[in-house]
Amino acid sequence: MIVGKTDKYMELAQAKQQIDKLSEELHTYNYAYYMEDKSLISDQTFDLLLKELIDLEAQYPNLKRPDSPTQRVGGTINKAFETVQHSTRMLSLGNTYSEDDLLEFDARVAKELEGQSYEYFCELKFDGVAISLQYENNILVKAVTRGDGTKGDDITDNAKTIQSIPLKITSKLSKLEVRGEVFMPKVVFETLNKEREEAGDDLYANARNTASGSLKMMDSAQVAKRKLDCYLYMLLADGHKSHEEAIHNLENWGFNVSPTYQKCNSIEEVLNYIHSWSEKRHELPVETDGIVIKVNNLDQQELLGFTAKTPKWAISYKYKSENASTKLNAVTYQVGRTGSITPVAELEPVLLAGTTVKRASLHNANEIERLDLHEDDFVFVEKGGEIIPKVTGVDLSQRSGNSKVITYITHCPACNTKLSRKEGEASHYCPNILSCPPQITGRIEHFIHRNAMNIDSLGERTISLLFEKGWLNRPSDLFALTKAQLLELEGFKELSATNLLTGIENSKQAPFEAVLFGLGIRYVGKTVAEKLIEHFRNIEALMAANFDELIEVQEIGERIAESVISYFSEEENREEIERLKSAGLQFVTTANEKQSNILSDKTFVVSGVFMNFSREELKNTIKTNGGKVVSSISKKLDYLIAGDKMGPSKKEKAEKLEVRIISEEDFESLLNNNNQ
Ligand code: IVH
Repeated sequence: MIVGKTDKYMELAQAKQQIDKLSEELHTYNYAYYMEDKSLISDQTFDLLLKELIDLEAQYPNLKRPDSPTQRVGGTINKAFETVQHSTRMLSLGNTYSEDDLLEFDARVAKELEGQSYEYFCELKFDGVAISLQYENNILVKAVTRGDGTKGDDITDNAKTIQSIPLKITSKLSKLEVRGEVFMPKVVFETLNKEREEAGDDLYANARNTASGSLKMMDSAQVAKRKLDCYLYMLLADGHKSHEEAIHNLENWGFNVSPTYQKCNSIEEVLNYIHSWSEKRHELPVETDGIVIKVNNLDQQELLGFTAKTPKWAISYKYKSENASTKLNAVTYQVGRTGSITPVAELEPVLLAGTTVKRASLHNANEIERLDLHEDDFVFVEKGGEIIPKVTGVDLSQRSGNSKVITYITHCPACNTKLSRKEGEASHYCPNILSCPPQITGRIEHFIHRNAMNIDSLGERTISLLFEKGWLNRPSDLFALTKAQLLELEGFKELSATNLLTGIENSKQAPFEAVLFGLGIRYVGKTVAEKLIEHFRNIEALMAANFDELIEVQEIGERIAESVISYFSEEENREEIERLKSAGLQFVTTANEKQSNILSDKTFVVSGVFMNFSREELKNTIKTNGGKVVSSISKKLDYLIAGDKMGPSKKEKAEKLEVRIISEEDFESLLNNNNQ
């Protein structure tokens, strides 16, 4: 059929209309959901509309709007962030912990303003990462980190995934810049850490560092999953008289401003504001470490000016982090499933920031040495941004003269094997991987976890009972358990035994991702397992992969690659995989099965950033259509698929060796033409 010009225009016009309609609708739903806490439609309907928009934009890339809500899900991969100069320096604030200092600050302001009356504008100090956002014609065009204050990193794609950063605003200005703080809400941080704990990954120390690390991730789709948030607190644009007016403008134009601010007429009112938030701030969704006091009038701000690093019209008051002193009853040692030893301070219970604290982490041997801990010491415990309280010091005034210094254990508290410590690592390990009880039960607990085999009818206590009986030493033993054995266990009846056996049987259907995660290979969490499987597809290919092949996979770094290789090099692990295979577990993925042989015998190098595919998707498409992906350019290579931001050296080499360089569109037509 020949499509006439008019038909084509009609089609485009219709597509544009639908794209605009969907974009507007999704913006409205997003705004209501994230800014007003209102759900206007179900999640399912939202996902359907979003999917429709994503598909339409893929079909008509030129019609994609610059403020498209599809940018919220991310997808662009950055190799490096471009450095951008700030229009005006992003300064820091002078800090104080004392109210006397605030009175002095006020006296200085009064003196400099020579009798003029003045007001303060108080805000909370959000503990996150400073960001600058630039808007042109009401569209977000650039987001830059603070960096060294003069220049920062262009992280626009990542910032666009933060729901509370508007992609489009409603100001009357053609250009403006706003600054604020990106943060990870407390609940998001706690959930993330809980997931990491369950996956056996190291915990993140605090929400601030995690927010900062998340903003610098290379894959914006991963940033989107981090559920960051952002409060704006500064407008750089002419046309307003006071900071208060600027803040109200920000609110009216669609920015997320924390409603916790307050205008104060005197320093006494400021002190009241400080006192009123000292406890209440813990109920906020964001970690706060103090308040910021700003002179409200902008002419007066200009008059007061700056010192070399900080404005003279503002100061921050920091709340002291809450601490308490209590008796150290004992130091105990936990053995993790990987054999890592964590020392824990067992404390006389003490009330701290609203919760009773009985235990605090001591991290490792270095920390105990640094604190010079003695038996029966009184220690200071502190709860800052961290969720786990920490011991910050010893109250020497309460130490008795003859108390003994605490020395780190040399042998495993569970199996008495001599501990080892790897070069450059702070933690001690119990090397008795095969028969140290908490390592064995820890591995099985991990294997049956919700994100792994998901056998929820099996709990920690049953695992211990089965282990004590000698029936459960490794995950594969689960599949040989009999009802008669279970009925011998305390508390087991016909029904509970049947339930557990059914749970174990059903787990055989768990997908390969879940099985691989369940094996408990160090650093192979859920996402890493998915990435490895997307690439290698079955256990044989994964086991055969060498270091170079492993780090070729997106998001797999040297540390993970080494861990995977070391895991499969152990005879016992290979045997266990054979046993699990014979039990009927899934060791191959069926997702993205082969679609054609169109690209058979053809080799490809994929480089740069693409519009319609992530790099991994592109590689998968090549493989599922029979092609081969290689990493280096040689004379034998058939195609170099060149995306945006491809390195010039690759291009040069390909040209020199006369390799065909094709675009993403060329690749698509290669697939489609051959398909006909
Ligand atoms: S105003 C000229 N307001 O604190 C300084 N900063 O040490 C303009 N911060 O880099 C900053 N909450 O990252 C301001 N309500 C608030 C803030 C705030 C947190 C951070 C910001 C800044 C640092 C200053």
